[in-house]
Amino acid sequence: MAEKILEIRDLTCGFFTDDHVLKATDRISFDLNRGETLCIVGESGSGKSVTSLAIMGLLEYSGGVILDGSIKFKGEELTTKSQEELRNIRGNKIAMIFQDPMSSLNPVFTVGDQIAESLMIHQGMSRKEAMAEAVELLRQVGLPAPEMRVNQYPHELSGGMCQRVVIAIALACKPDLLIADEPTTALDVTVQAQILELLKSLQSQMGMSIILITHDMGVASEMADRIAVMYAGTIVEEGTVFDIFDHPSHPYTQGLLNSIPGYETARGTELYAIKGSIPRLSELPTGCRFHPRCPHAHDRCRAMEPVKIDLSETHRTACWLYDDKAEVGER
Ligand SMILES: Nc1ncnc2c1ncn2[C@@H]1O[C@H](COP(=O)(O)OP(=O)(O)OP(=O)(O)O)[C@@H](O)[C@H]1O
Ligand SMILES: [Mg+2]
Repeated sequence: MAEKILEIRDLTCGFFTDDHVLKATDRISFDLNRGETLCIVGESGSGKSVTSLAIMGLLEYSGGVILDGSIKFKGEELTTKSQEELRNIRGNKIAMIFQDPMSSLNPVFTVGDQIAESLMIHQGMSRKEAMAEAVELLRQVGLPAPEMRVNQYPHELSGGMCQRVVIAIALACKPDLLIADEPTTALDVTVQAQILELLKSLQSQMGMSIILITHDMGVASEMADRIAVMYAGTIVEEGTVFDIFDHPSHPYTQGLLNSIPGYETARGTELYAIKGSIPRLSELPTGCRFHPRCPHAHDRCRAMEPVKIDLSETHRTACWLYDDKAEVGER
């Protein structure tokens, strides 16, 4: 049996406003096995970053809170840990790469110092050992002339090089789990492909698990073992790459795929965007959150929130269209 690195159950995260709480994720659940890549896809505002910040224990720094649910990392509950305990896990066992490499690097320290810092804190290395290891890491992430680059500042490097440095920092302590939130959106297309290739090869060398957050279904098809599709704070469909691309069940997933140029579906190759936009958290519709945009919505969709339905052992959907097709799984 594959080792479970992460088990998330009914995770509800929110933000307090003057008089009420806005739920940015509502009872989301998923698992991640060792060495596996899960891609989380969905429109802007669907709760992808909030989910990753919650796993990292960083949600409170952006003004949010975990309201309910459980995050187990290698069997250990994270939601009840103190910030001090979480700091030990962060950057060490769980690392994160953000969208914009420039904003994750500190402009006043050299690249080498920034990699070495993590090694000195978490691995107890001396500065000399850590700097030597930093050169090795830069070599590993494919930065040319690492002995020279290690002494440079972020502004002396291109965006793609900076993202390689960010990856080197993230991987310095050989984490079990790497969360990459839109790691390549700020980079041009050729560099994007190189960085994704790099992540894949580092993953196969190190056996880490990856949660990759992306807007791009093309990236998800290249990188993912499994895909979770988020909409307005919920996971509407989850499955293997094969499940999602060959048998998309949820009308939202079908819409996402239909908006990829050249994707062939039962509708033909017509390219169309999903009509309307994602609802505000303060104005969530009743029933299924997608129903106002759904071409198949019927009365029940407007009145009742869909339950999770297992279409197969690996494939699960939250849509009333499949109510009669399979056993109803846990919510
Ligand atoms: N600091 C905050 N205060 C209030 N609401 C927030 C805050 N951060 C995020 N939200 C809300 O939580 C919801 C989920 O946001 P999140 O950043 O997770 O979306 P996302 O899926 O990562 O979007 P994107 O693709 O644009 O990065 C959104 O409705 C957003 O407005
Ligand atoms: Mg985000």
